[in-house]
Amino acid sequence: MDKIRWGILSTGSIANSFVEDLKFVPDAEVIAVGSRKQAVADKFGDKHNIPNRYDSYHALANDPEVDVIYVATPHSMHAENSIMCMEAGKAVLCEKAFCITAGEAEKMIAVARREKVFLMEALVTRHFPVIHKVLEWINLGLIGEVRIVQANRCARGSFRPEQRHLNPELGGGSLLDVGIYVISFSSMIYQQTPKKVVGFGHVGEFGSDEQGATILEYENGALGVLTFALRTEAVNEAYIYGTKGHIKLPELFAVPTCARLHVKGEKEVVFNDKIKGNGLNYQVHEVHRCLREGLLESPRMPLHESLQIMQTMDKIRAPWSFRYPNDKK
Ligand SMILES: NC(=O)c1ccc[n+]([C@@H]2O[C@H](COP(=O)([O-])OP(=O)(O)OC[C@H]3O[C@@H](n4cnc5c(N)ncnc54)[C@H](OP(=O)(O)O)[C@@H]3O)[C@@H](O)[C@H]2O)c1
Repeated sequence: MDKIRWGILSTGSIANSFVEDLKFVPDAEVIAVGSRKQAVADKFGDKHNIPNRYDSYHALANDPEVDVIYVATPHSMHAENSIMCMEAGKAVLCEKAFCITAGEAEKMIAVARREKVFLMEALVTRHFPVIHKVLEWINLGLIGEVRIVQANRCARGSFRPEQRHLNPELGGGSLLDVGIYVISFSSMIYQQTPKKVVGFGHVGEFGSDEQGATILEYENGALGVLTFALRTEAVNEAYIYGTKGHIKLPELFAVPTCARLHVKGEKEVVFNDKIKGNGLNYQVHEVHRCLREGLLESPRMPLHESLQIMQTMDKIRAPWSFRYPNDKK
């Protein structure tokens, strides 16, 4: 089978992990990397044995040998970088959060459809075997009707103001960086647009949200009760509560290795899975499947859902005291 040839746009922390994990995908080949500086692209290329190295993202996007580009820049650049790649005819896997605002998401999706190229948000959680099992249990009705989804994605990092994590200029803050995991999880379980959204956020010393919470209300009063933080230690678990029982995903639910099914009055069922590498490879199998089947979006992470999630995040932060630079115009 022909290999699918990847280009890597930027050379930061997750780009490194992603390239390492591609070794678990036999039909993937990394052939190009683009950085803002040639020396950085060369260093990354040497480390990962990548032949084509570019001193700009534009040059990478125009490499005729590349089939699909992984966009791993800070959130504030996702829309611009993805659009440039798609306009050069490339399929795109864009890191989470998809972008900064629903308006940007609409533009990205419009370009994907106009250029007839594949586009997917890289939300790793959805592609793990544990999640496939959890959705199977729910679809079989084993916990009855889902009424409450509770999830927590928090950690305390020691960040410098210039780093992307809490830097509002780069789309930093807990909502876009880690809130996306819990909001996307709730969206995946309910497969609905929330009817009502309330959000709380604490804007800290760097001018971005350090922690927050949201309650999402769906049809018939079903709830998503979700918390996220970049400066608070917590247990990163998720629970799905239904009318007959519940499912627990233990720490770290966003990169899941276990799910526990509790049906009232029955013995617990446990599904365990050992992930390979950092777990970034599972989403790559999905990209390859879509490309080989000629799909322009993934049924597991469809574009209308990435847009709906961005709309929800816009609503969550609407009452907060700051706007991202891309959202001020
Ligand atoms: N899926 C996951 O598990 C996961 C985990 C962590 C992060 N992420 C996501 O991946 C993306 C990147 O995160 P990261 O932690 O890898 O970030 P990072 O280490 O800061 O790397 C970001 C890279 O973007 C490029 N860049 C372009 N403009 C920049 C600017 N103005 N400031 C800083 N860097 C700039 C740089 O590459 P060059 O110098 O080569 O141009 C930089 O190395 C984010 O969307 C994040 O949410 C996903």
